[in-house]
Amino acid sequence: MKITVPATSANIGPGFDSVGVAVSKYLTIEVLEPADKWEVLHDLGDVPSDENNLLVATALQVKEDLTPHRIKMISDIPLARGLGSSSSVIVAGIELANQLADLNLSDDEKLTLATKIEGHPDNVAPAIFGNLVVSSYVEEKVSSIVAPFPEASFVAFIPNYELKTSDSRNVLPSELSYKEAVAASSIANVAVAALLTGDLKKAGKAIEADLFHERFRQKLVKEFAQIKEVAHEVGSYATYLSGAGPTVMTLVSKEKEAELVERIQSLNFDGEVVALQVDTKGVFVEKN
Ligand code: HSE
Repeated sequence: MKITVPATSANIGPGFDSVGVAVSKYLTIEVLEPADKWEVLHDLGDVPSDENNLLVATALQVKEDLTPHRIKMISDIPLARGLGSSSSVIVAGIELANQLADLNLSDDEKLTLATKIEGHPDNVAPAIFGNLVVSSYVEEKVSSIVAPFPEASFVAFIPNYELKTSDSRNVLPSELSYKEAVAASSIANVAVAALLTGDLKKAGKAIEADLFHERFRQKLVKEFAQIKEVAHEVGSYATYLSGAGPTVMTLVSKEKEAELVERIQSLNFDGEVVALQVDTKGVFVEKN
């Protein structure tokens, strides 16, 4: 059995802890034979290979008496870069328990479990459903809406350094004034409404007007301002910090994708520039 989960790009500007989209990088789990102990074969560096691996730990949190298996884990989602690598592992772990124990979990049940583990739904929801997902998580209740993302390309600059979500959350204020909160949420409302009605120009303006997190985090990602400038010159819709960063994501039309990739590459920053597409499937299982 194989379980595949897409990467995700969360926040999309003002949709902090709420909005995310599934994108075309993938984690794949191959479930091999039952074994005496859990064993996770991977080449992901400093990641546990036993039941402490997040995949297995998550599966055991869902169902503690699962039969141990050997598992092969392959991923092209870079770690701690703002592309939802740990959310993808959590979603795969829930699906692993679901399949091995025949739990018949609904997508909404998977989302509630994943959100409780991750703490916010913006990455795990699109990893489960694919597409664009807008969610809220209040008093342990998750509510979400899945929608297609308007036709566009996501050009990611993935730096060669990690930024831990906890470090990136530590620079955020603990409070916003009532006035600022009203302004910030009105901007987020317009961003979401514009995405849902396919108005990428208006969405782009609202995305770049975020008041919830980017203004506090920009200093952590030194490449951000220059990429945004180049993206504007090319005529992109918006540049935003993917998740907690450090990946810098630019939304651009398919026609302008190649030009933008070239322009960002010519900045010679230490990292990779990749064009990603929306993943519309979310987590999926292939049985032998
Ligand atoms: N919404 C989260 C954040 C995503 O920006 O901190 C990363 O986990």
